Amino acid sequence: MRENYGRRRRKTLLRRLQVAWIIVAILATIVIIITGSKLLLADNKDSLKQDPDTIEDSNDISPLPEDKNEDPITGDTEQGDSNNEVLPDQNQENNENIPGTDTEDSSGTETLPGEENDDVTGEVEDNTGAITEGDDGESVEDTRKMIALTFDDGPHPTVTNRILDILEANGAKATFFVMGNRVQNYVDTVKRIVDLDCQIGNHTFSHKDLTKLSVSDIRYEVEHSNDNINEIVPVGEVVLRPPYGAKNDRVYETVKVPMITWSVDPEDWKSRDKDAVAKHILETAQDGDIVLMHDLYESTADAMEYVIPKLIEMGYELVTVDELFEAKGITLEAGIMYRNALGSTSTASGNK
Ligand code: NI
Repeated sequence: MRENYGRRRRKTLLRRLQVAWIIVAILATIVIIITGSKLLLADNKDSLKQDPDTIEDSNDISPLPEDKNEDPITGDTEQGDSNNEVLPDQNQENNENIPGTDTEDSSGTETLPGEENDDVTGEVEDNTGAITEGDDGESVEDTRKMIALTFDDGPHPTVTNRILDILEANGAKATFFVMGNRVQNYVDTVKRIVDLDCQIGNHTFSHKDLTKLSVSDIRYEVEHSNDNINEIVPVGEVVLRPPYGAKNDRVYETVKVPMITWSVDPEDWKSRDKDAVAKHILETAQDGDIVLMHDLYESTADAMEYVIPKLIEMGYELVTVDELFEAKGITLEAGIMYRNALGSTSTASGNK
């Protein structure tokens, strides 16, 4: 009896221990799940807090200071994103561009994240589509889906023409923010941009951070470049994309044309990866967006081989910056910087 009693007690104890273990395991699993989901939530909140403008502008600072290697595609030595293929006689102008300094400066000119976020959201909601007058005088909403692809820092003898070939083959258009110190070396390419009804924009003469310049130097960078463009194609005063998207009150007050930045940045200069560039654009770009790219890299042209027909297949019209704003019923004004055609802008006095 005693032996049996002892065995039974041991069995009972063992069973209790097993039950206790199961309970502990279940509790531990619950704790792990709760902690995990809390961490995930925290991560999401953090990513939502990021200021879109800060991302945009900091991303245009291309290439990063460590990215000063020889360009594998063009064989040119980089000094700043604009200076990659500048011809020897122009180097003097560009030597003043120190990538490291640019990085600090352009991020320093940014508006505070809170202000930007509030304003961007508010405006986007208000501008779901442009209202235009129909034949009968009634308001008709322009429901066409449009995206403006833009290419900075060119022209480039091969890459720009490859992109133009793709645009032409697909009946698409884009905007090229050219460098004033490069256009005279690629006259035929500049003319072809206009011949294909694409748009020329100004990316300044030598890609200096305008926030670091005096009023007269800002004027020179903008106007000298605009003059050089007009010596080749009579396009008049064209819209400006300030290098690095950098702006301050002096820039707003001095620049006498509308300024266009971007709302989608696939960081083509950084990854030089056609798949990454294509994926970013196709997953991110929406109606009214302006996409930032650089017509310096073969990988960007490679990405366009896929992206341009794909966006068209997705129902987007690929238009120039001017066409995008016109279709959305927005009149571009000097002293205002436009990130997209959904009403996300900023001015000297703040954001709209
Ligand atoms: Ni640039």
